[in-house]
Amino acid sequence: MYEGHLPVLVEEVLEMLAPAPGSLHIDATLGGGGHTERILEAANPDGRLLGLDADPAAIARVEARLRPRFGDRLVLRQANFRELDPVARAAGFDAVAGCLFDLGLSSFQLADRDRGFGFRTGGPLDMRFDASRGVPASDLLATLDVDELAALFRRYGEEPKAGRIARAIVDARRVAPIASAEELAALIERVLPPNPRLPRRTHPATRVFQALRIAVNEELDALEAGLHAAVDLLRPGGRLVVLSYHSLEDRIVKRFFQAERRGCVCPPEVPVCVCGRDPRLRLVTRRSVTPTPAEVVANPRARSARLRAAERLAA
Ligand SMILES: C[S@@+](CC[C@H](N)C(=O)[O-])C[C@H]1O[C@@H](n2cnc3c(N)ncnc32)[C@H](O)[C@@H]1O
Repeated sequence: MYEGHLPVLVEEVLEMLAPAPGSLHIDATLGGGGHTERILEAANPDGRLLGLDADPAAIARVEARLRPRFGDRLVLRQANFRELDPVARAAGFDAVAGCLFDLGLSSFQLADRDRGFGFRTGGPLDMRFDASRGVPASDLLATLDVDELAALFRRYGEEPKAGRIARAIVDARRVAPIASAEELAALIERVLPPNPRLPRRTHPATRVFQALRIAVNEELDALEAGLHAAVDLLRPGGRLVVLSYHSLEDRIVKRFFQAERRGCVCPPEVPVCVCGRDPRLRLVTRRSVTPTPAEVVANPRARSARLRAAERLAA
């Protein structure tokens, strides 16, 4: 069995996407290609799949691993899913049976010492999925002031100790720049020492790392754009399945599904609907689906996963 990055909730994803011979699917977050592989197997002999990833290393890895088995049934594009609409239409995937988003980062990225995603990586603190765009996380740490850093950690990490951490970063960088993920994680460990009465379930730097990654990749804006594009690309009866790993992502998915189910896509602050849109989605999952305890034991990365799915109505 392939073990580079174990696909999360894969049986549930397959059940919801129902790949079949001749079907067209999109995997907007290819990663190691774990979900893609299972979708293409279930769509034997001629179902096709368009796989996107912002990270060129993911595309190259899946090209090498899956191309020999699936040939031209697998279409790969290095692209951010905020560009999903034009990329999919240009590839002929414009009335698809299903679209999957498995958000966040892959085990490959976490383990890559040169990317700065993992707490124990000594290489540069970059954190971009696509290093040809935007700025690395180390630039944010070097240039934002205390208030800006604290706001970022609060907004994208929901970090209650954001102010203390931001001040410690600014103090530390007066002496030397914070260059690696390891240095940043160690600094946060010093600022937030363990409370002996409360067992730690996660590393104290988890929220700050999440915040920096979201910021450098503009992940939440990309997610909004990607979800909109996916609904446009589904054929009636086609399904959108999203796996999210923290509450900020899950909230966006939940609100998006609710808005498309109501029809109205006005932001919650607007008291009266001004968009006049018809419902485009029916919820397939009322509540989010989470992994079984057995899956979490087999794949600890699945621990925080939440799956939501919806079906395109004939609008
Ligand atoms: C959790 S992994 C996907 C794992 C995959 N489902 C599998 O089974 O191997 C998420 C992937 O999505 C990619 N990604 C994250 N945000 C993206 C975006 N906005 N556009 C395109 N790819 C993105 C990451 O580079 C990463 O490779």
